[in-house]
Amino acid sequence: MTPMEALHWRYAAKRMNGRKVPQGTLDTILDAARLAPSSYGLQPYSVLVVKDPALRERIRHAACDQPQVSECSHLLIFAAWTEVDERHVDELIELTAAARGLDPVELEGYRQSLHAAVAGFTTPEVRHHWAARQAYIALGTALTAAAAERIDASPMEGFDPPALDALLGLEAQGLRSVVLLALGYRDTMQDRLAGLAKVRWPRERFVVEWDGA
Ligand SMILES: Cc1cc2nc3c(=O)[nH]c(=O)nc-3n(C[C@H](O)[C@H](O)[C@H](O)COP(=O)(O)O)c2cc1C
Repeated sequence: MTPMEALHWRYAAKRMNGRKVPQGTLDTILDAARLAPSSYGLQPYSVLVVKDPALRERIRHAACDQPQVSECSHLLIFAAWTEVDERHVDELIELTAAARGLDPVELEGYRQSLHAAVAGFTTPEVRHHWAARQAYIALGTALTAAAAERIDASPMEGFDPPALDALLGLEAQGLRSVVLLALGYRDTMQDRLAGLAKVRWPRERFVVEWDGA
């Protein structure tokens, strides 16, 4: 299947049949999300994987009772870090030096510019919105990877983040939920959206070209 075939095949399944996604395939989707680009490379988010059906049932109550939350195989929660500060920058510098065989001293200029960047988050809300935007890039990457693996993936903002954070004790872990992704297999009998044509703005409305003429 080509990337374009995968993108036409995928849709946001509203009903899933409960079949389990194999661990290896789940790992591929998670690795794809981990490879997503992020601003300054800071990756200010974590992905929580909820397998426990009983817990997913409780999460469903905080997610507008959407069936795919409990019918999926795995529920991913993309959660933004509540703290992104100089400690994280220094950790990233160490990681970068180790991955690239450099002396951290060679990255001093980079470290200073990242320190300045994180100091620029004037309020927790500004930082959260920045971190959440990065989490959405990982979400998109996971969606595309899932399609390539022929796994249905249903993104969801229809939930109550403070309620979910309280349910899972996320604040104590320095996390705030941003968006959900249910992974599984479509239930074509029950899902009224299965097999319907895609609805997208026509290309001429979507793409604005400046040809310099
Ligand atoms: C960030 C985001 C949040 C979404 N939240 C929900 C949701 O809570 N419930 C739902 O049924 N669909 C949700 N969707 C799915 C969209 O409705 C769907 O992607 C859109 O209608 C396009 O259809 P398609 O993805 O099936 O091609 C969400 C999609 C995105 C990208």
